[in-house]
Amino acid sequence: MPRPALAMLNDVDRILISHDRIAARVAEIGRALARDLDALSEHPDEIVLVPILTGAIVFVADLIRYLPHKLRIGLVSVSSYPGRSIASKGALIRGSLPDRLAGKHVLIIDDILDTGQTLALVRSIVIEHGPADVRTCVLLRKQRSGAAAIEPDYVGFDIPDRFVVGYGLDYNDYYRNLPDLVTLRAEAMR
Ligand code: XMP
Repeated sequence: MPRPALAMLNDVDRILISHDRIAARVAEIGRALARDLDALSEHPDEIVLVPILTGAIVFVADLIRYLPHKLRIGLVSVSSYPGRSIASKGALIRGSLPDRLAGKHVLIIDDILDTGQTLALVRSIVIEHGPADVRTCVLLRKQRSGAAAIEPDYVGFDIPDRFVVGYGLDYNDYYRNLPDLVTLRAEAMR
């Protein structure tokens, strides 16, 4: 993997989770998920993954390589931290959910759980479509003072309540291509 450009590295405060640690944990979650999906259904085409755009793209791309099932992927778009904002503005679903969710085993996947509003919102809308069951998976869960609105079924890492970028997560749409999960210097977030 090439070294990230200095224009990005100079903005990094510190590496919170290295790419090697992320890769090892994604492998663990992927294998656990594969076992659980095996047990779920004799009809593997009944599995639908619903990744939440845009932050989950890198995580999902790595995760699905551990799932040998015949499954569908239906992306959903939710905005809660638009542009330069680092405080959640409340989840808002954009676009529509993938169709044909009735009777399916649905797994909603997001990059990070903060207040839990995003995951709770997508989950409630998925449930309206009558799936057989719904599970939730996040790479990161912030340790915050208030309880989150939802308890995910799969969690990669619990992290401190800091704004983080890299491995799909952004600030103002930058840094998604950083392999590590990092915090930014204050000057980079002006
Ligand atoms: P809620 O509060 O709904 O937030 O659980 C989840 C969504 O907020 C975004 N988010 C972040 N994005 N760095 C980011 O780049 C962060 O530290 C962060 N915290 C929350 C993310 O889009 C997630 O889907």
